[in-house]
Amino acid sequence: MGEAPGRVPPRNPDFHLDNIAVAKKMIESEKTFNGAKALITGGAGFIGSNLAKRLVHLGAEVFLVDSLIPEYGGNLFNIHNIKHKVHLNISDVRDPHSMQYLVKNKDYLFNLAGQTSHMDSMADPYTDLEINTRAQLSILESCRNHNPGIKIVFAGTRQIYGKPDYLPVDEKHPLRPVDVNGINKMAGEWYHMVYNNVYGIRSSVIRLTNTIGPGMRIKDARQTFLGIWIRRMLEGKPFEVWGGDQLRDFTDVDDCTDAMLLAAADPSADGRIFNLGGDGVISLRDLAEKLVEINGGGTYRVREFPPERKRIDIGDFYSDYRLIRSTLGWRPRVSLEETLRRTIAYYRQHLDRYL
Ligand SMILES: NC(=O)c1ccc[n+]([C@@H]2O[C@H](COP(=O)([O-])OP(=O)(O)OC[C@H]3O[C@@H](n4cnc5c(N)ncnc54)[C@H](O)[C@@H]3O)[C@@H](O)[C@H]2O)c1
Repeated sequence: MGEAPGRVPPRNPDFHLDNIAVAKKMIESEKTFNGAKALITGGAGFIGSNLAKRLVHLGAEVFLVDSLIPEYGGNLFNIHNIKHKVHLNISDVRDPHSMQYLVKNKDYLFNLAGQTSHMDSMADPYTDLEINTRAQLSILESCRNHNPGIKIVFAGTRQIYGKPDYLPVDEKHPLRPVDVNGINKMAGEWYHMVYNNVYGIRSSVIRLTNTIGPGMRIKDARQTFLGIWIRRMLEGKPFEVWGGDQLRDFTDVDDCTDAMLLAAADPSADGRIFNLGGDGVISLRDLAEKLVEINGGGTYRVREFPPERKRIDIGDFYSDYRLIRSTLGWRPRVSLEETLRRTIAYYRQHLDRYL
């Protein structure tokens, strides 16, 4: 990290040794979930469904709650190969009666349901408020009243830092959200911390950066701009890169689920907030090049930011994930190239399921 703009910094020479250490730590933590009951809100979504597959594989009894609102990332195809192994409840986290029932008798709550679109949060701030803030408080109230022994992992976002004062951004960076979504997600995560500190409901927050992989929404740019890039590229159409020089980091969805499992299993994560990060830093223009190269073809056009986007853009961002590394032993294990390769291969095969 901290390399010249637009370049992917060289891999840490200890990468493979580090990967072995992380793998050992994962194996230890993963034992915790055998026979455990785990509830995932947003379980048919991108990250939730990948986490559900992991938990099923680890021997957990998995309960999913998802509203499947069409504008969001929930997609039943994401869970088609585990559908007989999970309990799926099509319900809305804004419904306190459902949530009171669903949190009962669970060991873990992976709280991932959210409205993710920054532009939608500006066009319809009240829906974002209801889901990302009010419902979060109501989920925590359900836990306080019906299952105070549950352990919660909440999916936070790097969006709450706003335009960085310095790079890479660590957890001590001021929080200065640039859009309604950032404000509401910030409140959502702090409710978790307050309920941890005041009521002893063990909660950890993972602030995600751009997370990518099979199962992400590619229909439009509501979840990530990379989704629509991939869709258009696979449809043989040019995609648009806005700006192009902005630096970003990306986390593979498997690395993201590693972090969530580690945070759930390790008591030293209770009451803590952790950034995730990626294998390197890359400009959007270089990312577009890499995507086309891996795909073996494709075209894109670099253009100015649309004005309504520019107003909420955060410029360069990449995160410092040393805290989760030193506390929980997490680090990204999947390279950006590998993630892109795997993601493109997945959508080549299943494009029609995501349109
Ligand atoms: N993907 C990323 O890059 C990223 C980055 C930062 C934070 N996050 C956070 O991670 C979480 C998961 O994101 P994702 O990328 O998997 O997105 P996603 O849209 O695929 O998953 C969210 C899921 O929540 C469900 N949902 C939304 N509102 C709901 C409601 N009211 N009741 C029940 N279910 C509801 C959606 O149907 C969807 O399946 C979100 O909270 C998001 O804010 C994701």
